[in-house]
Amino acid sequence: RGEAEFVVVANRLPVDLERAEDGTQRWTQSPGGLVSALEPFLRARNGAWVGWPGVPDVEVDEFSDDGMVLHPVSLTSAEVRDYYEGFSNATLWPLYHDVVARPIFDRGWWDAYVRVNRRFAEASASVAAEGATVWVQDYQLQLVPTMLRELRPDLRIGFFLHIPFPPVELFMQLPWRAEIVRGLIGADLVGFHRPGGAQNFLWLARQLIGLEPSRGSVGVRSRPGMVQVDDRTVRVGAFPISIDAASLDKLARTKAVGERAAEVREELGSPKKILLGIDRLDYTKGIDLRLQAFHELLQEGRVEPDDVTFIQLATPSRERVEHYQQMRVEIEQMVGRINGEFGRVGHTVVHYLHQSVDRKELAALFAAADVMVVTPLRDGMNLVCKEYVAARHDLGGSLVLSEFAGAAAELSSAFLVNPHDLDGVKSALEQAIKLDPAEGRRRMRALRRQVLTHDVDRWARSFLEALGAGPTT
Ligand code: G6P
Repeated sequence: RGEAEFVVVANRLPVDLERAEDGTQRWTQSPGGLVSALEPFLRARNGAWVGWPGVPDVEVDEFSDDGMVLHPVSLTSAEVRDYYEGFSNATLWPLYHDVVARPIFDRGWWDAYVRVNRRFAEASASVAAEGATVWVQDYQLQLVPTMLRELRPDLRIGFFLHIPFPPVELFMQLPWRAEIVRGLIGADLVGFHRPGGAQNFLWLARQLIGLEPSRGSVGVRSRPGMVQVDDRTVRVGAFPISIDAASLDKLARTKAVGERAAEVREELGSPKKILLGIDRLDYTKGIDLRLQAFHELLQEGRVEPDDVTFIQLATPSRERVEHYQQMRVEIEQMVGRINGEFGRVGHTVVHYLHQSVDRKELAALFAAADVMVVTPLRDGMNLVCKEYVAARHDLGGSLVLSEFAGAAAELSSAFLVNPHDLDGVKSALEQAIKLDPAEGRRRMRALRRQVLTHDVDRWARSFLEALGAGPTT
């Protein structure tokens, strides 16, 4: 039994351990939306964070870091292969993202998933104080709520899924479907981004383990439901996540970011329009489709190569998983093809970076970009589009956004596209490139109103309130 009154449990710690060849180590910010959303919230609350340090086969002791306690859970190389790269990212990830890639069902991976989930449950049980609130995050840890409840019935347990919860027909393909549902209902509150996910989960709880919906209202705004598990009520609801909008807005207003944005434009040869994509290099993000749309616009002469530059920042991700390797090859070939056809000496049409950049550079890229292109085939929320909006205090720039990102439900003033409909994407890109500035400002004002008033703090508070965890400041 530990001392922490508030515990976040996620596959990753908010920082990754990096080991250089000479044996030196340093901590860097972990990738992905989950960490960027939760980290500022937890730092302000002196909580504990239980997670994997991002590299296999290291034992790191618990340590404090700027307002929070980090409690590392170590994984062996075999566990990283089977639990993380395997079951989490080659079974659940594609299954939950509409089977965009074919999920692999492997019994050995499942066994590792169970084992590692148990280790996270044990670690959380050892960190949490009597009666503490434990908030379990995402698809890698869906068995933790019930495992933890068995170890520590005194805890208040929440679970939030950061990726889409799939349609029931797809979920039913999973050989361990009942086990996953049983794992989740150990929580007092199970949260999703969208009401549809919550409904799918409620239906599955009823079908797979015979739980009946209970009556009454849960008091959250998001059309919640409840199921009765023995003498416990499990609440189920939708809580769309967001970003720390005020801090990005503030960063984007700094002189340093303004200067860097001007420098970026200049370094690119001051093109009339800059298009920007920023994603983890993931096959769900539709990077290939947006490049294809851009390519066709150039081929058809609807966009002049000298007038535009497309910056695509693709952050390295899950590089040992096969589908990610294939996607990387495809994207890099497309970039080569477009530049080969439409570049000239001194002007590259697509600037492609396979790396991650720091927050200041990110803000400068947002500030420099006339059109932000976010075209996932399926995305739980997508925080990059919200970041772009938060960074555009000047009301400049426009957003092309997939209707299959959770964010589309809130950002209706974007140019919404079906990423599979290439002609639709092309005309949205063309409209956004040629947009009348007054119309652009009108749209951006509406987008900012939504993003700045619905930030990550509000998301976390509404979840914790529904969990009955009370004020957490
Ligand atoms: C998404 C997931 C997170 C994950 C992140 C980065 O945002 O919802 O759980 O941490 O991607 O992926 P990685 O596999 O590098 O942790």
